[in-house]
Amino acid sequence: MNEALARSNPRISPYALSLSSAERAALKAQRPRCLWLTGLSGAGKSTLANALEVYLNRRAAHTFVLDGDNVRAGLCRDLGMSADCRRENIRRMAEVARLMVDAGLIVIVAAISPFRADRDAARKLFCEGDFIEVYVNTSFAVCAQRDPKGLYLAARQGLIKDFTGIDSPYEAPLRAECEIDTQALDMAQACEQLAGFLLKK
Ligand code: ADX
Repeated sequence: MNEALARSNPRISPYALSLSSAERAALKAQRPRCLWLTGLSGAGKSTLANALEVYLNRRAAHTFVLDGDNVRAGLCRDLGMSADCRRENIRRMAEVARLMVDAGLIVIVAAISPFRADRDAARKLFCEGDFIEVYVNTSFAVCAQRDPKGLYLAARQGLIKDFTGIDSPYEAPLRAECEIDTQALDMAQACEQLAGFLLKK
């Protein structure tokens, strides 16, 4: 995979499109952004992303959710859970999110994205202020206790390798623009907090 990336064609030169991102966004009457939700498996990222998208849609915003599990079912189905595969998974999600922001959408990404360097690389694809890192902060103990997909149990039994928080690290954000404390807020409140943050910016 890295070999393929290294082999990418040096003769490729991007075509300059006549229509700007700003013109696409103007037609939608919104400021396109990427909200990047990071946190442990079971933290509530997908639920929050979904709730936020519904909230924004009801207020006439043009949105899309890029969810880790969904993207891994298609575009990233060739990738596993090793550190290298996760890096590539995040790279692809970030590139797709950037295209969607260029298209004028408010994109909500929900992915564990456990490595700071990979999230920072994603951030670099966007203009200043267009990438909003959101730390969905739910403790390991709570996620493991919820265990909605039975993955924590399977990882403890040694049936799944490279499980985040067990035998693969999670590097919490140091400079997230927004932190959602899911233990202090219910989902509706978390959604309100995030939407409020977005509208304020
Ligand atoms: S990421 O680390 O590359 O960002 P991503 O969010 O796309 O991960 O996918 C995580 C999803 O894969 C989890 O929601 C879970 O359902 C599933 N999964 C399968 N194996 C693992 C694993 N070893 N560690 C974490 N999640 C896993």
